[in-house]
Amino acid sequence: MKKININSIKRLKSKEKISMITAYDALMAKIFDDIVDIILVGDSLSMSFGGDNDTLGISIDEMIYHTKAVCKGVKKTLVVCDMPFGSYLDKNEALKNASKIYKQTKADAVKLEGGVEKADIVKELCQNSIAVMGHIGLKPQFVRAEGGYKVKGKNEEEVKKLIKDAKALEEAGVFCIVLEGVKADAAKKITDSISIPTIGIGSGKNTDGQVLVWSDMLGFFDEFKPKFVKRYLNGAELVRNSVKEYVKDVKDGRFPSEEYWY
Ligand code: KIV
Repeated sequence: MKKININSIKRLKSKEKISMITAYDALMAKIFDDIVDIILVGDSLSMSFGGDNDTLGISIDEMIYHTKAVCKGVKKTLVVCDMPFGSYLDKNEALKNASKIYKQTKADAVKLEGGVEKADIVKELCQNSIAVMGHIGLKPQFVRAEGGYKVKGKNEEEVKKLIKDAKALEEAGVFCIVLEGVKADAAKKITDSISIPTIGIGSGKNTDGQVLVWSDMLGFFDEFKPKFVKRYLNGAELVRNSVKEYVKDVKDGRFPSEEYWY
């Protein structure tokens, strides 16, 4: 089975839509492997599995632990590890932490949030043979600084800035860019302005690919559903019902029956 690499992802631009999903452990990664093109070990982990209100609290060592697990479950799909908040404040810090991710895990690339202002850092990583995925638009690591999650590309000025960000990242060497929470028409303009793929989340259909958080799309996180999430399964409900059935079997003495004992 040939492993997907960053060049195969780049070649998909304008040919075939790219699929990306998050995973945080070997169990789910094994299920998603060879079905999706890219698995992202997102810092969304801190919210969907850590129970935090935002993504800012997760550490580099926690990201490494989960990325290691994901890589153990994967044979074919490309794996990207999010660089957590505060781990790429300057070039040296970024290189030290991205190298740590590369050394301690089998991740194929790292992802970091930011545009023009992060281009130098991206360049430093790429020049030191670390593959980087960009992330612009709504940047969850900026939630406290921006006072909430803000959709981007709402006016001409914002669109111009996003295109500038995308071009600066492309020039710095990223192999593709996540566009999160960008108005659909703006996402199309950004996608058309660069020669590397864009992967959208809540950014319409004119990006080169799509990404969703697995626990959102499979309905395991059912407290609320953002507009951009399509639910493919009612995971939480199915699990709750199955666990209720198990508890009832235990209480009523139906489990275990003879076939389950030695
Ligand atoms: O952390 C994450 O899961 C992400 C995706 C939502 C793009 O960054």
